[in-house]
Amino acid sequence: MQICVIPGDGIGPEVIAVATAALRVLAPDLTIKEAEAGWAVFQRTGTALPETTLALAREATAILFGAVASPSHPVPGYRSPIVELRRTLDLYANIRPTVGNEVDLVVVRENTEDLYIGRERLEDDGATAIAERVITRAASARIVRTACELARTRQAYGHPGKVTIVHKANVLRVSDGLFRTVALEVAADYPELTFEERLVDVAAMQLAAQPQRFDVIVTTNMFGDILSDIACIHGGGLGVAASSNLGHGRALFEPVHGAAPDIAGRGIANPTAALNCVVMLLDWIGRPHAAERLRSAITAVAAAGIRTPDVGGQATTREVADEILNQLSAQ
Ligand code: NAI
Ligand code: MG
Repeated sequence: MQICVIPGDGIGPEVIAVATAALRVLAPDLTIKEAEAGWAVFQRTGTALPETTLALAREATAILFGAVASPSHPVPGYRSPIVELRRTLDLYANIRPTVGNEVDLVVVRENTEDLYIGRERLEDDGATAIAERVITRAASARIVRTACELARTRQAYGHPGKVTIVHKANVLRVSDGLFRTVALEVAADYPELTFEERLVDVAAMQLAAQPQRFDVIVTTNMFGDILSDIACIHGGGLGVAASSNLGHGRALFEPVHGAAPDIAGRGIANPTAALNCVVMLLDWIGRPHAAERLRSAITAVAAAGIRTPDVGGQATTREVADEILNQLSAQ
C-alpha cells in the first residue's frame, strides 16, 4: 500500500517528519512517497502543486499532508494546493473531530464547492470585488448523508445521534436555501437520528460557549472551515486538531492548523495534530491496533507533561517526538 506524504511549508515539514517517523514504526510495510506542494515550490518552479505531486497523490491510497503557506493577496498563477487537491481528487467530506473535557463532536464540512471554488473577479476598474458561491444539490446531499452515517455509527458507541444542520438560509436564501432543503430531505431517510438547524452565527456562539450541546455538525465549506477552528479550542487547540478529507476509496489527512510562520524554524511546533492524523490514517486503512498504539503513546507523553509551549509545556518538537518513539518501542 502506498502513502503519499506532502510536508509543505513552514512547520509542515517539522511536524510531518515526526508523523512519518511514527508511521514507519507502526506500519513498516507501507511504501511512503514524499512529494512537494506549497509556496516554496511555487517560488522555485511557478506551480504550487506540481504534476508529479498530483500523480503520486492519485496513486496513493492515503495522503498525509502538512500545511502550506498561501499568500493573502492575489498572486498570478498561485492556487492553494490543498484546496486544489480536495477538488481534483474529489475529497468531498472534511471530517474534523474534537474530543475534550465533556466534549465529543465532529464538524462535517463540505469540501468541494461554496466560495472556495475561487471564482473571484474585480469590476468597476477594481472598485468592486465579486466572489461566486456555488452550492449544488449533489454535493449538499452527499455531505449530509456522510454526516448522517457518521452520527449513526457514533450512536452505536453511545453518542446521542444528533445532527445539527448549520446554514445562513435567512440571508443566503437561494444558496444556503438549497443546502437546507436538501439537508432536510436527506434527514427524512434517518428516522433514528434527531436533527436541528442553527444559523451559523448562533452556531459559532454556542460552539464556543456550550460545545457539549453538539454531536455531529454538518455545513457548507466556508462555515465548516471557521466552525472547526472554533471547535478545536475545546480539544487542546490548533496544535492538536487533526482532520480527514474523504473521497471515493481515497483519503487525505491533515492537521487543521496552517504553516504557522510565527513559530516556523524554532523547533517548538506541536507535532500532536500531525500524529493524530496518523492515528486517523491507520484507522482508515484498517489498522486499528496500530492506531490504538499511537493514540495511547500520544496520551502518555502528554500526561507525562512533555508538551510544547502552545499546550502549556516547555518541550521542543524533537523532545515530544523522541518520547513518542520511546513509548512506541516500549509497548
Ligand atoms: P496557523 O494555523 O498557521 O497558525 C495560527 C496560530 O496557531 C499561530 O500563532 C501558530 O503559531 C499557532 N499554531 C498553529 N499550529 C501550531 C502547532 N502545530 N504548534 C504550535 N502552535 C501552532 O494559521 P495562520 O497563522 O492563520 O496561517 C499561516 C499560514 O498558513 C497562512 O499562509 C495560511 O494560508 C496557511 N494555512 C494553511 C492551511 C493548510 O495548509 N491547510 C490551513 C490554515 C492556514
Ligand atoms: Mg482553516
